Amino acid sequence: MNHSAEHSAEKIEGQEPLMSRRAFSQVLFTGVGMCYAAAIGYPVYQYLASPISKASEAAAVNQVSLPDANKLEKGSAMMFKFGAKPGILIHHADDTWVAMEAVCTHLACTVQYQAEQNRLFCACHGGVYDTRTGANVAGPPPKPLQAYKVTVEPTSVVVSKV
Ligand code: FES
Repeated sequence: MNHSAEHSAEKIEGQEPLMSRRAFSQVLFTGVGMCYAAAIGYPVYQYLASPISKASEAAAVNQVSLPDANKLEKGSAMMFKFGAKPGILIHHADDTWVAMEAVCTHLACTVQYQAEQNRLFCACHGGVYDTRTGANVAGPPPKPLQAYKVTVEPTSVVVSKV
């Protein structure tokens, strides 16, 4: 009996380092696994999250300054970026300035300025807008273009949400 007790004690003593080693390996592998997951997961998270954060940053834009846009000739227009969306700035022949979102209210194509017809035209389905008010005047667009406020500065034009 004594012998058997000694034997089992030996057995336990013999097993302990083995268990510890196994436990250690588990911790090690778990740790390594977590590092791999973090190393792979974080860039994936960043990749997925960045367009979302960029989109929300772009949506948060309330004003843009367009350097040298004050030199835009009368009777002409220029495109610009207002956050993620295209905008159009028009300098009319009578020296009035107008800016609007250049996104068609029908199916979101970009509209263009056509000086000779004095209109904003959407080539996708023939939508036509007024160049001063952005009102939808022909074709399928259901509502006017969104107008912006324009401030002409000595070295730029500042366009902001109304
Ligand atoms: S998207 Fe502009 S008219 Fe259809």
